[in-house]
Amino acid sequence: MAADGETVCVTGAAGFVGSWLVMRLLQRGYMVRATVRDPENMKKVKHLLDLPNAKTNLTLWKADLSREGSFDEAIQGCSGVFHVATPMDFDSKDPENEIIKPTINGMLDIMKACSKAKTVRRLVFTSSAGTVTVEEVRKPVYDENCWSDLEFVRAQKMTGWMYFASKTLTEQAAWKFAAENGIDFISIIPTLVVGPFLMPTMPPSLITALSPLTRTESHYWIIKQGQFVHLDDLCMAHIFLFEHPKAEGRYICSSHDATIFDIAKLLREKYPEYNVPTKFNDIDENLEIISFSSKKLIDAGFQYKYSLEDMFVGAVETCREKGLLPRPHDISRSCISPGGSLKVDFHGRNWG
Ligand SMILES: NC(=O)c1ccc[n+]([C@@H]2O[C@H](COP(=O)([O-])OP(=O)(O)OC[C@H]3O[C@@H](n4cnc5c(N)ncnc54)[C@H](OP(=O)(O)O)[C@@H]3O)[C@@H](O)[C@H]2O)c1
Repeated sequence: MAADGETVCVTGAAGFVGSWLVMRLLQRGYMVRATVRDPENMKKVKHLLDLPNAKTNLTLWKADLSREGSFDEAIQGCSGVFHVATPMDFDSKDPENEIIKPTINGMLDIMKACSKAKTVRRLVFTSSAGTVTVEEVRKPVYDENCWSDLEFVRAQKMTGWMYFASKTLTEQAAWKFAAENGIDFISIIPTLVVGPFLMPTMPPSLITALSPLTRTESHYWIIKQGQFVHLDDLCMAHIFLFEHPKAEGRYICSSHDATIFDIAKLLREKYPEYNVPTKFNDIDENLEIISFSSKKLIDAGFQYKYSLEDMFVGAVETCREKGLLPRPHDISRSCISPGGSLKVDFHGRNWG
């Protein structure tokens, strides 16, 4: 199906996934309504306004998951909605009120807006592997029937627990609302998304993906037995499922399984200058691979295009271009502490 000037709304459009999705939708001929929290903040929206076709086919709309009704106007008249936005502050001091509640209530508010609009034929939700895999004893293979164990998440309070809880509760609430209100709802479940990107600051997922390189130890457990997908593959899967006449239910979107040792080896070989470690605290080197099955998406006709190397090289090169990682000639001995750690500041400021 060709886009043919159809109007769609993308929430969280300035973020890592949102901005790439907007770029691909514009390229495909869609009129895009991009929601952001602060359309006036040029630092956060310039990369959207600079996209090809943005002048004629892109509009920015102010909306916040914490403000009831704020998505109504942007969604009214759209034939599709891609709900990508999510609060992702792993350091939140009040996770229940800052992360979990706004994520659930914002989803339901967007679903109500879709119902009211009467123009939306499908709502596509960017879910997360965190809704599938977080449990005490990991399975060798995960598919769309699996759900994370919320009791375990709340008891363990591991790094990112509030994000896993918010996404799981939100997707479950959305399925209930969709069934009760006859909404055509699809959820896409990406694993860790890696690749080149448009946003000007360090994307949250790359803090995790590049943790072996930056020695961000608290994130090691997330990629200890990891699964990965390229940002472009993920965005093309969103469009594929939106346009697929028979798409229904949940779809895992994950192309590669790898352990932290595989990632570290890849990074070490490509970028020896970063001195990527070979050992990680107490992580046993004989780790089993844990796999995410994308069979349902592939059986529907989707094809992945990118390798693990494409993902990590794309990510590192973009970080370097944007000054978020030091380039080889900038790495001095003073950058690497005696313990081997690389001094990099990921909060939008420079490394060094
Ligand atoms: N990246 C991954 O590895 C990964 C993996 C699995 C699933 N996902 C899912 O993919 C989606 C996008 O993630 P991302 O990696 O692109 O993260 P991101 O770069 O942090 O983007 C998230 C966007 O959500 C918006 N947002 C946060 N709080 C909001 C609120 N209260 N109201 C409205 N918007 C709000 C932010 O908008 P502002 O620009 O207005 O600040 C931000 O642009 C999320 O749903 C995430 O769960 C990502």
